[in-house]
Amino acid sequence: MEIGIVGGTGPAGSGLALRLAAAGHHVVLGSRSQERAAEVVQKLHERWPEQAGSIEAADNAAAASGEIVVIATPWDAAWTTAKSVGHRLAGKVVLCMANALIRVGHEFQPLVPPRGSVAASVQAAVPSSYVVAALHHVPAKELGDLAHPVESDVLVCSDHAEAKRQCMELITQIPDMRPLDAGDLTQAAPIEAFTAVLLQLNIRYKTRVAVKFTGIDGDPFA
Ligand SMILES: NC(=O)c1ccc[n+]([C@@H]2O[C@H](COP(=O)([O-])OP(=O)(O)OC[C@H]3O[C@@H](n4cnc5c(N)ncnc54)[C@H](OP(=O)(O)O)[C@@H]3O)[C@@H](O)[C@H]2O)c1
Repeated sequence: MEIGIVGGTGPAGSGLALRLAAAGHHVVLGSRSQERAAEVVQKLHERWPEQAGSIEAADNAAAASGEIVVIATPWDAAWTTAKSVGHRLAGKVVLCMANALIRVGHEFQPLVPPRGSVAASVQAAVPSSYVVAALHHVPAKELGDLAHPVESDVLVCSDHAEAKRQCMELITQIPDMRPLDAGDLTQAAPIEAFTAVLLQLNIRYKTRVAVKFTGIDGDPFA
């Protein structure tokens, strides 16, 4: 599958690009500047020559041509960026991983974007796309380190059942990650906001936490 990552030059987007490429997908890593994308992709190729082979550098518009498109910009750029490439996103699955947060001193505070969540704002900006919210809680540094799996549950929500299933399938392909169906896009608000708690734990315990839920032992797709 060809997967585009808009805003792919940051730690979250580039880490995800690496994991998806390692799973056998062709990844188009996008940026506002194709040069910046090329620099990031070159570094990925240098560090992970075998696994990063199928990552290609591009601008955001080209990344938006992927079959599934990930929005990996900061939260306040997510819906304007999605809208700017909206004609390419029509009819496609758009995975939004952005969290609306602000750091005030040592405290992370969740923000409430228009429509309650970043993902809902993206859905409103590209109404002909199938927006799925996922991957908010996965630590980017670990995502970008193929030497270790990222043991984590991933909450996935969307108003579009088939789009949600496709994103869950994709997440299943990343070692030790388990996607969980968290319901409709309304759930994106608490999911995004909860990231502030995780970042607070990271500071308190000088670590990078991930999320695991007990009590769900069966097939997450059942
Ligand atoms: N970091 C994490 O651990 C983590 C984990 C899960 C989810 N997330 C979420 O994933 C998203 C990306 O995280 P990140 O840490 O990778 O973010 P980041 O490094 O701050 O930003 C990612 C990329 O977005 C682009 N960008 C920055 N400002 C922009 C603007 N005003 N308009 C358009 N594009 C802009 C930049 O790419 P160019 O300059 O190359 O265009 C940048 O490299 C965030 O929303 C974050 O909440 C992060």
